[in-house]
Amino acid sequence: MIRLGVLISGSGTNLQAIIDAVAEGRLDAEVALVCSSRPDAYGLRRAQAAGIPTRGLSREVYADPLAADRIIVEEMRAAGVEYVVMAGYMRMVTAPLLAAFPDRVVNIHPALLPSFPGAHGIADAFNAGVKVTGVTVHFANERYDEGPIIAQQALAIEEDDSPESLEERIHAIEHVLYPQALQYIAQGRVRIDENRRVRIAK
Ligand code: GRF
Repeated sequence: MIRLGVLISGSGTNLQAIIDAVAEGRLDAEVALVCSSRPDAYGLRRAQAAGIPTRGLSREVYADPLAADRIIVEEMRAAGVEYVVMAGYMRMVTAPLLAAFPDRVVNIHPALLPSFPGAHGIADAFNAGVKVTGVTVHFANERYDEGPIIAQQALAIEEDDSPESLEERIHAIEHVLYPQALQYIAQGRVRIDENRRVRIAK
């Protein structure tokens, strides 16, 4: 059983997938806290509906991103969080957070990293005309979308796909892959080797 703190900014469908996986016994974890970079994020309501403590951080707090992360660290520690899970969190995580949770900050990205990093992974892949894209779960580091990769799943972009239909299929994959990757962590099977590559024990 691991204690997770989830960072969100928006609708929180990945948060919901994690909450559901915990409730259904597919993820041996407890979501101890949900922090949002937007106080009106719909995901906060999902957390409240599940009885999870929440904290909404105002835009003003992020005027100083390091100070914002210090607040988050304080809240996460007070909640006994062991792993910080970014789920549609639209802010950079900075040194204070990464230092407080070394190799314990996890992110999901809607493309096959290292291809198409950044805030528009789905549209960037579609517009590049690649025939395969996918989803990546990885540890976050100071270079953000470059941290050690925990899990990936590919999907083919079909002739009749639109950015919208592609997005729908990407999200469906995310909602399965993220709880699965977190479960590997919960089971103690994930380690980072001497080359900074993730190894998952059988
Ligand atoms: C997901 O596509 C995730 O990969 C990206 O932001 C989106 C979040 O969606 N980082 P949601 O808030 O979990 O619904």
